[in-house]
Amino acid sequence: MTATLEQPAPTPTGQPAVAARDITKTFTTGGTQVPVLHGVSLEARPGEMVAVMGASGSGKSTLLYCLAGLERPDAGEVVVNGRNLAECSRADLARMRRGEVGFVFQAYNLVPTLTAFENVCLPHLLRHEKADVAVVEGVLESVGLAHRRDARPPSMSGGEQQRVALARVLAQQPSTIFADEPTGALDSRSSELVLGHLGRLAHRDDACVVVVTHDPTVAASCDRILFMRDGLLVDELRPTSTEQVARALAGITSRRGEC
Ligand SMILES: Nc1ncnc2c1ncn2[C@@H]1O[C@H](COP(=O)(O)OP(=O)(O)O)[C@@H](O)[C@H]1O
Ligand SMILES: [Mg+2]
Repeated sequence: MTATLEQPAPTPTGQPAVAARDITKTFTTGGTQVPVLHGVSLEARPGEMVAVMGASGSGKSTLLYCLAGLERPDAGEVVVNGRNLAECSRADLARMRRGEVGFVFQAYNLVPTLTAFENVCLPHLLRHEKADVAVVEGVLESVGLAHRRDARPPSMSGGEQQRVALARVLAQQPSTIFADEPTGALDSRSSELVLGHLGRLAHRDDACVVVVTHDPTVAASCDRILFMRDGLLVDELRPTSTEQVARALAGITSRRGEC
């Protein structure tokens, strides 16, 4: 797949849509403590598409979960659209994720007994609203799945399920989108399609998009890349080419564990 590097978007100004200040997170499993985030601070603004890259296990998904209110950090602060997540109840957070905050899960998180169409309607159903059939069919078509409207996840390929997960967020029309490896199961053509959608959400619709990816081509089409190593943000890049991103990523991952 060739990188489609458009003119870099101008740096968005104004209030950040997402701000993290010095967040830490340790998991405890079977009595063992697993420290994962060691004090992460970042900001991302409306109209901006930000990539997070780093070796497997460096804490990227945990960071995204904390930013989206799916995990609570042990310390530090996450503010989304002006709201401090520590002050939100679980119900507030759930409401946010059905509305203004969209999450594309790495493992898709589709309901296996529902059709693709019904899965895309889910945020509306959870808000006790009726989804607009034409909008839902439109987003399914836009991710190339019009013909799979009535298929259920167990009969779909990983790539198809990943595109249903994206369609669900597109139908939800959130102003802040978190996407965890949204092209992980896709061939290069579908990958470009997904990237195009995420880019339009940020650059046309003024949404804030934060995308975890290991793919330098995906990251190269973002406005900014944050590099993680061992639970810390260690570098930042405004990408100019896929090759430059691949080199930067190799540099970051080869220095793993030095500090
Ligand atoms: N719920 C959890 N319980 C225990 N350990 C976890 C949990 N989630 C993640 N981890 C651990 O945290 C570390 C970072 O995981 P993760 O955030 O998924 O990294 P990445 O997305 O960069 O691969 C890994 O060592 C992983 O095993
Ligand atoms: Mg991950």
